[in-house]
Amino acid sequence: MTDTFEGKIVIVTGGTSGIGYALSETLLKRGSYVWVIGSRQESVLKAKQSFSKYSNAQFAAVDVTSADAVQKMVDDCVNEFGHLDYLFNNAGVGMMGQSEDMTLDMWKKVVEVNLWGVIYGVHAALPVMLKQGSGHIINTSSIAGLFSRPYRAVYTATKHAVKGMTESMRYEHAGRGTGIAFSTVCPGNVVTKIFDGIEIPKDAVPVDEAVNIILAGVEKKDGMIIFPKNTKKLIEHLNANPNDMEKFMIELERRTRVTYLEKGELYAELPHDIIKI
Ligand SMILES: NC(=O)c1ccc[n+]([C@@H]2O[C@H](COP(=O)([O-])OP(=O)(O)OC[C@H]3O[C@@H](n4cnc5c(N)ncnc54)[C@H](OP(=O)(O)O)[C@@H]3O)[C@@H](O)[C@H]2O)c1
Repeated sequence: MTDTFEGKIVIVTGGTSGIGYALSETLLKRGSYVWVIGSRQESVLKAKQSFSKYSNAQFAAVDVTSADAVQKMVDDCVNEFGHLDYLFNNAGVGMMGQSEDMTLDMWKKVVEVNLWGVIYGVHAALPVMLKQGSGHIINTSSIAGLFSRPYRAVYTATKHAVKGMTESMRYEHAGRGTGIAFSTVCPGNVVTKIFDGIEIPKDAVPVDEAVNIILAGVEKKDGMIIFPKNTKKLIEHLNANPNDMEKFMIELERRTRVTYLEKGELYAELPHDIIKI
């Protein structure tokens, strides 16, 4: 049986680190032609060195906050290969802190990468995929796109927006039968460099496991890919039970405040312990 991803043309933004890096590596192993994208020459060069044994890998430094650069990324790929099968809009940046301490530049930076970066990718890929009559756009949101964590206002805003726009386009394109599929990826904690130097949360998923879950969902053309399972279950419960959501959020705010604002440590774990499902 042939592998779904074998011979496919794929772009992975944020492919130089974390989830995107592991995703690129797995797709390269499975025979895809992968354009590995990072924003900095330095990280792109590093990825190029570590993927040097793969002749099916291409690399480019593309700042996803530039519409022109993202358009060029898609144009270059299509000029080289004639089409584009999968676009993973995975690049993203985190941000946490007290909302009043965030400058407008901080708000704008996160919106530009996490939301405009995805919009530019979709805008550049859609005409190509419509012409092909096929293609799959996979946008990375977060569990922060499914509920609203305290001290992560702008990150939460962008991830809700990514989830909303992807779901909107998913139904639109399915209804019109354009042949273009859309998936939203909502990871819980995944072990990437965001946890460098701090204690890895107990509920964090190893990055290779995250990639297997994501690719299994993409293969099935799942609209929403939410993981890990226990976090998915927790969020479904909270969204269906407003009283539990309130109780959970009050405790999440308290633990975040105590660990981050008082001790200067990132609080990443979800307080699963306070809700009985
Ligand atoms: N890890 C988690 O626990 C977790 C949980 C939920 C959601 N997510 C989401 O999953 C995605 C990947 O997260 P990660 O933890 O794997 O991140 P990561 O290890 O920090 O990697 C981020 C990637 O995004 C790229 N990037 C950042 N700004 C960019 C820009 N302006 N233009 C192009 N590329 C840019 C980086 O490239 P350079 O280094 O070259 O800038 C890097 O390759 C993000 O969207 C994140 O929000 C992660």
